Parts: sequence; structure tokens; C-alpha cells
Amino acid sequence: MKTSVASFIFAAFAFVIQGSVLSSGVEESISPNPRAAATCGDVSDLAPFVELYIAPITSHIYTIYDNNVTNTFNGNPGTQYLGTAAFIFSIQDTSTVPFYCLHSAAKTTLFYTANETERLTALATGFVDYMTAGYIYPSQICGSVPLYRLHFLAANSDYIYTTSVTDRENAITLGFTYEGIAGYVYDLLSCEAFPARTTFSLLTDGADGVGGIPS
Ligand SMILES: *[C@@H]1O[C@H](CO)[C@@H](O)[C@H](O)[C@H]1NC(C)=O
Ligand SMILES: *[C@@H]1O[C@H](CO)[C@@H](O)[C@H](O)[C@H]1NC(C)=O
Repeated sequence: MKTSVASFIFAAFAFVIQGSVLSSGVEESISPNPRAAATCGDVSDLAPFVELYIAPITSHIYTIYDNNVTNTFNGNPGTQYLGTAAFIFSIQDTSTVPFYCLHSAAKTTLFYTANETERLTALATGFVDYMTAGYIYPSQICGSVPLYRLHFLAANSDYIYTTSVTDRENAITLGFTYEGIAGYVYDLLSCEAFPARTTFSLLTDGADGVGGIPS
């Protein structure tokens, strides 16, 4: 008896689910948005852009690569893992542009930009191409959020990147200068919009980190 009640409840539930799928399908055909699907990157290519603070050289590093995390810790005692700053594309998907990472001549500052003009200006002032950190949107599409850039303008220059308005404002009170939006990315909240992605992991890269930051 219990079993048949359970089966009945299950059958009713299945019916409701089927009904809602059907109604959303009908709705979709009434107001399609083919442009959105065509211009968005593939969320399965998102990777966590993790943030580390290399305290000895007062420098922040952001990366989607596990070797960068390992090498930064091994090469710099005192490094702090600060968590996931954003989710960015690991390959150049539709509508995304490279998010370049450059290091200063002394390898004590990492600078990330998606702006080619800015990259060339940085190269002309002594910065060196380090890696393509990943790929981001240059405009706010597909549920993405702004990635704010802040700059600590001092002898120990440092850049930080955050999707959090609170963190941005806190950084300003700590002496950072707000320099604008570096591009558009996903954060933990916007990622929840993608049921297909519930877990994210760093990329394993073949490079052993020879010659990079940290030295
Ligand atoms: C790129 O950087 C240059 C130089 O700072 C600036 O003039 C230009 O507006 C930037 N382009 C975009 C799309 O933000
Ligand atoms: C960081 O990762 C990039 C891309 O895999 C690699 O080119 C670079 O050498 C790495 N640096 C360190 C210190 O791990």
C-alpha cells in the first residue's frame, strides 16, 4: 500500500515536471533569443581565477593554472591564498578577448589587461608579456559582471582585480586607486545561473613555471 502511494506521488511529480518543461518550451518558442545563445561563451570552459598575495613582494597574482599556485607557494614563503576572484574562460570562446598578464621588469608587479593599447603602453614602459591569463568579455553580455581594477601607486606598485564593490571600496580606503573595469567575467553568484556547471577546478598546465614569476 505504501509503495503504491509513493508511486502515485512520484507519477504526479513526474507529470508536474513534464508539464513545466512543456510550458517553458512553449514560452521559449514564443519569445526566442537566438542572439544570446550565439554570442555567449561556453560556460563549460570557465575556470576559477584564483587570487594569491605574495606578501614578501606585496604583489597579487591571479591565475587559472595549478602550476602557478604551486610555484608561487614554493618560491615565496609567506604567500597567502585569497580564494577565487572570478571565473574566466580558459580558451578563446565566442565574444571573448585575451586577458593579458604582464610582469614588471623587476618581476615584482603583475598587470592584467584586455586592452591592447594598454598592453602596448605597458610593454613600452618596461613591462614584459608573461602569459595570457585567460579570456574575458570586453562588454557586459551573457550575465557577466564587471571586474574592477585597482592600483596601488607606490614604489611597491600592485594591482588587484575584484568583482566585489565592497572589496573595491575597501581597497580604496587602503590607498588603492580605482582604475576602471578590466572586462566582464562571472562571479560565484552569476555562475549559479548555469546549472550545467556546479564544480570548477584549476587547469593543469604542462609548463613547469621556469622563468616566470615568482623567480
Ligand atoms: C584602452 O586603453 C586606452 C589607453 O588607456 C584608452 O584610451 C581606451 O579607451 C581603452 N579602450 C577601451 C575599449 O577601454
Ligand atoms: C604560470 O603558468 C603559465 C601558463 O601555464 C606558465 O607559462 C608560467 O611559466 C607559469 N609560471 C609559474 C611561476 O608557475
